[in-house]
Amino acid sequence: MSTPTTSRRKTPADIRAHKGKVPVVSLTAYTAPMARLLDPHVDLLLVGDSLGMVLYGFDSTLPVTLEMMIAHGGAVVRGSKQACVIVDMPFGTYQASPADAFRSSARVMAETGCAGVKIEGGQEMAETIRFLVERGVPVLAHIGLQPQSVNALGGFKVQGKTDQSQAKVLADAKAVAEAGAFAVVVEGTAEPVARAATSAIAIPTIGIGASSACDGQVLVTEDILGLVSNLKPRFVKRYGELAPTISDAVKAYADEVRARKFPAAEHTYPAS
Ligand code: KIV
Repeated sequence: MSTPTTSRRKTPADIRAHKGKVPVVSLTAYTAPMARLLDPHVDLLLVGDSLGMVLYGFDSTLPVTLEMMIAHGGAVVRGSKQACVIVDMPFGTYQASPADAFRSSARVMAETGCAGVKIEGGQEMAETIRFLVERGVPVLAHIGLQPQSVNALGGFKVQGKTDQSQAKVLADAKAVAEAGAFAVVVEGTAEPVARAATSAIAIPTIGIGASSACDGQVLVTEDILGLVSNLKPRFVKRYGELAPTISDAVKAYADEVRARKFPAAEHTYPAS
């Protein structure tokens, strides 16, 4: 009798093991049905706080709360089977102290079932990353352009263009790797410095607008599917144009309803 093979969910250690091998494939997911569609194709599903802008219509990620991340994180875990699910820690829930970061991350992990958390910040967050990792919280770091610091940075600007900014991105990459992060997102960073960071550290760099010099890529799913019409980052290739398809389908539905083409109850519910 053959033993049934059970596919197990990827772990942060599996993601770390991509270094120097196959690139890490990652996309954002915020809901169970989208997670179900993406899961067979990706290594890592990121429940990004970008959901504040993509789903909730905020201008930045700053208003996102821990409760929102927990609700969406749980949905993505329930909707997926094999991808490693990482949940973003929202602004204000981890920066004040390592103890604060642990309290917030422990809630996220316990209430969603995710495999770890993502936090923004380089050298200044190294102590917190070490504190979390030593207490059983796997951390995906996030350096380069950090959307939660948009006000301090003066807008969404490419990082690593000046000597000073290059040195900072490189020092941040080394600091988060030494602190124990299992991988690091490198966002909006010029190619030479993304390349230098990738070769300087032993964990995968997962780029977003940071070139193919990285060990993998993460993008916002709605961007690559053409579901967000008002924002189109230059580095995003669209693999689908779903907005017009949805619009056509909804128009067809509306036309039928207006023509009274909808079924009666006996056609839609089983007979009692
Ligand atoms: O919030 C997010 O979705 C992110 C990435 C896309 C890296 O941080």
